[in-house]
Amino acid sequence: MSYDLVVIGTGPGGYVCAIKASQLGMKVAVVEKRKTHGGTCLNIGCIPSKALLHASEMFEEANHSFEALGIKTSRPKVDWKAMLAHKDKVIEGNVTGIDYLFKKNKIDVHTGTGRVLGAGHVEVKVEDGSTSIVETRNIVIATGSDVMPLPGIGIDEKSVVSSTGALSLEKVPNRLTVVGAGVIGLELGSVYARLGAEVTVVEFMDKILGPMDADVSRQFLRMLKKQGLKFKLSSKVTAVQKKGRALEVTVQPAEGEAAATTLDADVVLVAIGRRPYTEGLGLAEVGVELDERGRIKTDNHYKTNVDGIFAIGDVIAGPMLAHKAEDEGAAVAEMLAGQAGHVNYEVIPGVVYTSPEVASVGKTEEELKAAGIKYKSGKFPFSANGRAKAMLHTEGFVKVLADAETDRVLGVHIVGFGAGEMIHEACVLMEFGGSSEDLGRTCHAHPTMSEAVKEAAMATFAKPIHM
Ligand code: FAD
Ligand code: NAI
Repeated sequence: MSYDLVVIGTGPGGYVCAIKASQLGMKVAVVEKRKTHGGTCLNIGCIPSKALLHASEMFEEANHSFEALGIKTSRPKVDWKAMLAHKDKVIEGNVTGIDYLFKKNKIDVHTGTGRVLGAGHVEVKVEDGSTSIVETRNIVIATGSDVMPLPGIGIDEKSVVSSTGALSLEKVPNRLTVVGAGVIGLELGSVYARLGAEVTVVEFMDKILGPMDADVSRQFLRMLKKQGLKFKLSSKVTAVQKKGRALEVTVQPAEGEAAATTLDADVVLVAIGRRPYTEGLGLAEVGVELDERGRIKTDNHYKTNVDGIFAIGDVIAGPMLAHKAEDEGAAVAEMLAGQAGHVNYEVIPGVVYTSPEVASVGKTEEELKAAGIKYKSGKFPFSANGRAKAMLHTEGFVKVLADAETDRVLGVHIVGFGAGEMIHEACVLMEFGGSSEDLGRTCHAHPTMSEAVKEAAMATFAKPIHM
């Protein structure tokens, strides 16, 4: 059987690429080694983590906000098994949705591990060890990423876990140590803190959420501490030892020779990043080049150095985000169909689904300073927003950064309830090269949290009204 396109990996990058290519008239097959489609995102990433984040947030609300809203209930209890069942049901609903879309778009599915034999040929190895070869005009590699291990610390996915194990713990631990104050550490750390665990986050850097705007990072750290999470910044975990049923975690300063301290924990979550996954793809044999960080090298048309072989998503450079992978999947399919696919890397939002949420698009203040770009900054707190007060979600702020000369919006950073939804009006504005005056003069419905976005924009060229 010969195809126009074979996509290896059916995560958000791969499945979107396959569907788009089929919509554009190509004969398409996918190769996936997992039994279900959707990749890291749908099976062990975005979707299951959001199911647990939502459930634990509801628990937290019922425990702490209901009374203030005039709702009397008996004290809610966590049914952890039922919460996990909710998560599993959500995964199932999403992965079967991809099966449906593949059928609808007449995409052939080859279940097995794909290996590139050369341009035009992909070997598929199934569980019993037998192999077959699929012929194709083009190959898109979308094999994603895997957990970054912490040297010397073995992950057993029971007591020392990666995000995968942390999504299916047998019970809510009494004490959880999280290594890494990045997106995974703070999202999953928040889940367990809300459910009653004592959570300590050990972070190498002197700030949390490293690449985010420093203002956001500072204020968000204060909020998380208020929620009961503990932090050991500028520190690293150097050993984890079993002590009976518990674990002893050795923590050392990130730099210098100061003495090590220890933490007791029931579970340790290692969340220090992810690395591109290219194992077993046969890339060295075919001569596909990798960069210094093991990512597949591509040009800006997602083409590798070997004709007919392309790569997208977590396995190439750029932020490891599902929507970045999806957009690249659609773009490469369009290019293969002779159209002008394009991804604007200046406008890729990042959202941390904690409570409150953190959302960001474009440049941070630190990046603008480093680039020597003169900018104006406007900020507006949710404590001055009527809707936020009505919902008891007054924590956080919106910050708009605009070019000092042209007024073009260069970055928007939000900490607050619903930030992950609100950020998109900034994305659309920035795609059209809009100015902060455009944003500040756009009529926003009242009362909405989004009015804080309008007021922050207004603060860059005039005075906000409600502050
Ligand atoms: P993947 O989703 O990793 O898919 C790759 C697929 O390729 C897998 O199914 C794998 O089995 C398959 N594969 C690999 N090698 C082979 C082979 N040789 N043959 C056949 N199949 C193969 N991002 C967000 O944007 N928002 C979030 O909220 C978010 N939450 C996350 C939470 C967690 C806990 C984690 C771990 C990640 C999260 N991410 C989130 C990141 C997101 O999951 C990834 O950026 C996204 O899944 C990358 O998509 P991809 O298609 O490149 O690769
Ligand atoms: P990350 O890169 O976000 O954070 C890792 C953190 O670990 C960094 O702050 C780093 O300084 C720290 N660190 C590294 N080595 C350390 C050490 N030895 N000791 C202590 N700290 C150390 O990586 P994370 O959280 O693992 O997430 C992986 C990827 O998954 C990210 O790229 C992210 O984009 C994606 N993701 C996205 C989500 C979202 O969009 N909401 C949710 C979860 C994951």
